[in-house]
Amino acid sequence: MKIAVLGYGTVGSGVAEVLETNRELIARRAGQEIEIKYVLDLRDFPGDKIQEKIVHDYQIIAEDPEIEAVVEVMGGIEPAHTFVKQALLAGRHAVTSNKALVARHGAELLEIARERKVNFLFEASVGGGIPILRALGSSLTADEIEEVSGILNGTTNYMMTKMFYEGADYDTVLKEAQANGFAEADPTADVEGQDACRKIAILASIISGKNVEFEKIYTEGITRVTKEDMAYARKMGMTVKLLAQCRRDGEKLAAFVSPFLLKSSHPLYSVNGVFNAVFVKGNMLGDAMFYGSGAGKLPTASAVVADIIAAAKNPDKDIMNFWSREELKLESREEIRRRFFVRAEGEPRNLEGKIQAEFGNCRFVTVEGLDGEFGFVTPVMSEGDFAEKAGNCPWILHMIRVEE
Ligand code: HSE
Repeated sequence: MKIAVLGYGTVGSGVAEVLETNRELIARRAGQEIEIKYVLDLRDFPGDKIQEKIVHDYQIIAEDPEIEAVVEVMGGIEPAHTFVKQALLAGRHAVTSNKALVARHGAELLEIARERKVNFLFEASVGGGIPILRALGSSLTADEIEEVSGILNGTTNYMMTKMFYEGADYDTVLKEAQANGFAEADPTADVEGQDACRKIAILASIISGKNVEFEKIYTEGITRVTKEDMAYARKMGMTVKLLAQCRRDGEKLAAFVSPFLLKSSHPLYSVNGVFNAVFVKGNMLGDAMFYGSGAGKLPTASAVVADIIAAAKNPDKDIMNFWSREELKLESREEIRRRFFVRAEGEPRNLEGKIQAEFGNCRFVTVEGLDGEFGFVTPVMSEGDFAEKAGNCPWILHMIRVEE
C-alpha cells in the first residue's frame, strides 16, 4: 500500500521511523508492504533521506491513483480538513493524530468514510500511544459505558506533579516544562484545558455514538492552581490533577474539564509526570484503566501506524463506524453534583457559623505556615447551588472541585 504523509514534524518523522524500524513485522501484520510515496511539507530536508519524497503541493498526491491512504499529522484545522475530506471523497483511507480536526469535523469525516466504504481512523488523537479508541469501539462493545475519565494532557500533568511533589509554583514549573520541550512556546491550549476538552469530546462522542460539541463542555485549566492549593491537598492526603470527565447520568452524559482534588486511593492519583491514563467504567466490565505515553514522537507514531495497518487490513469496510452527526445534549453544568474545596480568607472561628449556614456541614482544614486563611470541604451539592452560595461569600479565595 502506498501512502502519503501530510506533515514532517515530530509525529510525521516518527511515522517514517516506525515504518522503517518495524518494516518486516508491519508488512506481515498488514498483509502487504506499507510504503511512504510522498511527504507533504512546506519545508525541505536536505541531508535527510525523506527529501526525495518531499512534495510542496497537495495536488500531486491528490492526482496520483497509486495513493491508497493519506496520513494527516500536520495539525490545525485548515488545510488538514480540506485534504482529509478530499482524500476520503476520492475513496482513500485517512488516518490522523489531529484532535482539533477530529473534535470539530469527526462526525462529518466518518460519514464520508461510511459512504465511500473506507476508513477514517484517529487513535493517536486521544491519549497518544494508549490504545483507547479502538478498545472502546471494538473491545468494550458489550457494555454500556458509564464513565470515561482521565488525565488526557501530559504537559499539565507534568506541571501538577512538580507542584505537588516539589512544592514549586506555577510559573516555575511552566518554565521547566517549556525548557524540557513538554510545553509548547504558546502553552495556552494545554494549560487552559482546551487540549483535554477536545480529547474528552472525542471520547464522549465515541461512547454515545452521537456528536458532542467540544465548545459545550465546561472547561477550566490549571492557571489558577497555586502551591498553596497543593499544600492543602497534601494536608488532606489528596493531590490536584487536571481531569477530563464524561459520566452517564440517566439518559444524559455530563462532561467536564477542570482541576480536581483526588484522594490517594483514587486510581488516577499516582499517574504522574507526562503520563496519561484513562479510567473506563462499563456496566458489565466494572472498572478498567488504560495507562501510557499520551504524547511524544514514537508513542504517537505507533498509534498512527497501527491505524494504517488496520486500514490496510480492511480495504472495503470502515471499522470505526459509530459516531453519527446527531448532536448529543449534555447535562447542564449547574445540575452536576459533587463536593467543593474552598480556600477562605480570615479565621475559621469568625466564619464557621456563616459557612455552615450557607453550605451545610463542612470539614475544615488549616495548613501550618498559611496564615490568615483556611480551607473547607462542602457536602455534596450541585454546581449551580455552589455558585449561588459562593456569590454571597466575598472572602472566598479559590475553589477546587473534589473527585470522590
Ligand atoms: N500537548 C499535548 C499534551 C500533546 O501535553 O498532552 C498530546 O496531545
